[in-house]
Amino acid sequence: MIRRATGYFRAAFPKYDDLNESVQENVSAIRVVKAFVREDEEINKFKKASDAIYKIFCKAEGATVYQFPAMMLTIYSCILLISWVGAKLIVTNSLTTGELMSLLAYCMNILISLMILSMMFIMITMGSASVSRIYEVLTEESEIHNPENPIYEIKDGDIVFDHVNFQYSADADEPVLKDINLHIKSGETIGIIGSTGSAKTSLVNLISRLYDVTEGSVQVGGVDVRDYDCDSLRNAVSVVLQSNTLFSGTIYENLRWGNENATDEECRKACELACASEFIDKMPEGYNTHIEQGGANVSGGQKQRLCIARALLKNPKVLILDDSTSAVDTTTDAKIRKAFRELIPGTTKLIIAQRISSVMDADRIIVMEDGQINGFGTHDELVANNKIYREVYESQTSGGGDFDEAKGVDAGKEGR
Ligand SMILES: Nc1ncnc2c1ncn2[C@@H]1O[C@H](COP(=O)(O)OP(=O)(O)OP(=O)(O)O)[C@@H](O)[C@H]1O
Ligand SMILES: [Mg+2]
Repeated sequence: MIRRATGYFRAAFPKYDDLNESVQENVSAIRVVKAFVREDEEINKFKKASDAIYKIFCKAEGATVYQFPAMMLTIYSCILLISWVGAKLIVTNSLTTGELMSLLAYCMNILISLMILSMMFIMITMGSASVSRIYEVLTEESEIHNPENPIYEIKDGDIVFDHVNFQYSADADEPVLKDINLHIKSGETIGIIGSTGSAKTSLVNLISRLYDVTEGSVQVGGVDVRDYDCDSLRNAVSVVLQSNTLFSGTIYENLRWGNENATDEECRKACELACASEFIDKMPEGYNTHIEQGGANVSGGQKQRLCIARALLKNPKVLILDDSTSAVDTTTDAKIRKAFRELIPGTTKLIIAQRISSVMDADRIIVMEDGQINGFGTHDELVANNKIYREVYESQTSGGGDFDEAKGVDAGKEGR
């Protein structure tokens, strides 16, 4: 019985994953489901997943359902047998009634204990199927470890990339970043621009050690990032991720994710810097406004500004904005950059953007192309010397167009 049931239980638990996945995806992406009129398909997907669980549990229960009747049959048969044999023995004066009663009581005790034991076996069967799954998660080792004697102090925001090659998986054909060499001085503002998939995000992810380099080294403040304590490094390198999230709670609570000890005054200051205060002040409950799960009740641009303010509260040595002002209007975008320049001059700022206007006033600009640095210099230098940058600049200043459109124009020209 146990052998059959174990197989079913082991197969049943992974089916829960499909069910949970379907529920979680549909709740968090409810607007996408509605926009694409996919309700019926998604309901069917949920039904399929729950049907699969229903069927497999029916089988598992079916395999164990005979256990209780079988135990009861054994117990009552024993009572009958003892009574029958006992009655015969009493008649021949070999047994007293008292002795028969004790025999029955002992027998019942033993049989009930055996019954509980057999139930325990079923529980253990179910439990072991769960335990092996929990164990799998708990024993999953992070590839990024703290070194033995970590450094806790990050001196400044100086960044060096020294012959860096990087690939996400060991069996990838080609590295995502190829032979990157860079030196960014502390306090500099660096713009990073490049077509979709040119590895801009991959480049900055190495600075906060979200991934380890495959070859070469990345240094922050003159020390290899692998020698720092991970938490200290990530506290000093603040990243506003490309797809950022707000959590359910008030604006204050969300901001204090960056720094739980920040005072109200500090929170307000960070919001002013990120140009978020202008819309927060207009909200009826101001900084105590409740943000819904995933930031559903604020606009895309407002969410980005709140995420920037949250990152600023860490007082970072390096601030990375990964396409973080894409949904912010150009005037506000310029205001934010001006505030950065004037109010946090000591922080190294790396700004990834698709709009040339977001990076053109940076101290220097990196042009990424296919995982390599195609150009690195000031706006004027790049306009004069870098073909890609010049073409994007011209296409965006003469009536819009973004990076990819510019590439398309370029490819068209070459084709001709
Ligand atoms: N977690 C990952 N695992 C495997 N490959 C990845 C991962 N993230 C990105 N890549 C691959 O690395 C390459 C560079 O991606 P990356 O996200 O760095 O580009 P990007 O320049 O930031 O693009 P975008 O402008 O669209 O944000 C892409 O080809 C992508 O498919
Ligand atoms: Mg990116």
